[in-house]
Amino acid sequence: MSAERKVRLGVIGSGKGSNFVAIAQACREGNLSAEVAVVLSDVAEAGILKHAAGFGLAARFIDPGKFRTKLDESAEAAYVAALREARVDLVVLAGFMRILKGTFLAAFPGRVINIHPALLPSFPGLASWKQALDHGVKMTGCTVHWVDQGIDTGRIIAQQAVPIVEGDTAETVHERIQQVERVLYPQTIGELIRKGAVKASAA
Ligand code: GAR
Repeated sequence: MSAERKVRLGVIGSGKGSNFVAIAQACREGNLSAEVAVVLSDVAEAGILKHAAGFGLAARFIDPGKFRTKLDESAEAAYVAALREARVDLVVLAGFMRILKGTFLAAFPGRVINIHPALLPSFPGLASWKQALDHGVKMTGCTVHWVDQGIDTGRIIAQQAVPIVEGDTAETVHERIQQVERVLYPQTIGELIRKGAVKASAA
């Protein structure tokens, strides 16, 4: 009997890569029935690329082009080509700090997810942990959601609450959220695969 092909993940991030590490570890340890096919970043020095190299995974910086908050047209085409070349079944945004537009999403319909450090629809956008702290909310958290063309507006897949406690700073809140993210993200990807919402392509 031939082994079933694993779901291939394409992980994209701009930062230190702690979510990526949690996902790659879960794959390696067999807790997540998937494999990381490629890691891409818009930041040449990003920790995520160094971690990917440490795991022996294919990792590439792709220049995002001239804009600050999105990919320019040729960059977007390069990201799509790299993900297709790696035969990615699911695109996993892990701290990717740019908005993806229609052409990218049309290349991977219903196959792009993101993790956001707040309980959406509260606090979309940047530094959400700081937005939550500044508002004085007692409970924030993190959200895994499908990506659409809006800013953190796609359909919610999973959420977990994280308390804000007396004496918290933006840093302590973000760290507490990130500890939860590192469990929630691999777990949620696993559930999507188990439920058949994400499948390995036949190729
Ligand atoms: C994570 O907290 C993630 O939720 C956030 O960036 C951090 C990346 O950390 N994403 C966003 O704010 C997206 N709008 P990491 O590089 O250690 O995974």
